[in-house]
Amino acid sequence: MEYLDLIKQRHSVRAYKSDPVEQEKIDKILEAARLAPTAANRQAFKVFVIHTAGREQELKKIYSRDWFVKAPVIIGICSIPDKAWVRRDGKNYCDIDAAIVMDHIILAATDLGLGTCWIGAFDPDAAKKVLNLDKGIEPVAFTPLGYPEPHNFNKIRKNLDELVEVK
Ligand SMILES: Cc1cc2nc3c(=O)[nH]c(=O)nc-3n(C[C@H](O)[C@H](O)[C@H](O)COP(=O)(O)O)c2cc1C
Repeated sequence: MEYLDLIKQRHSVRAYKSDPVEQEKIDKILEAARLAPTAANRQAFKVFVIHTAGREQELKKIYSRDWFVKAPVIIGICSIPDKAWVRRDGKNYCDIDAAIVMDHIILAATDLGLGTCWIGAFDPDAAKKVLNLDKGIEPVAFTPLGYPEPHNFNKIRKNLDELVEVK
């Protein structure tokens, strides 16, 4: 897909079919994650691929919406703050790195005809428990991954002149 068309096509999908996602597509999406840039190339992140079948109730502890677990796959991005680049003033870039990785995943998924939805409002303690995360690994974001139910979408955005200032 042409890049701007891809950006226009990506939107939050909150209704999924339970049809499986082909492993070939998951592999392409993970390659997009692997190639994401990170500060100082630290690559201080971990991607979790979670198959939802039979685990719906457990996974709803992370984020309780039915559509979150209706998708056949959930992808979770975690950061490893101790391994991430830290700016001289102390700012740790781990969340920024993780967000770039997730955006690569989400755009790659869109290009493959799959739906996604950024999930930031998850329960971090539940996520740590369900994923059995080691200390020092922080969940940053999740997305369901699956074929969308037919739906319409609308991009509600500010005008460029509210967002951009040329100096
Ligand atoms: C960092 C981040 C966290 C988000 N968390 C949630 C969430 O927890 N639940 C949800 O339904 N949507 C969530 N969203 C989706 C936004 O609401 C959505 O991207 C925004 O309204 C724009 O709509 P669009 O994605 O369809 O373009 C999140 C988006 C971002 C970027």
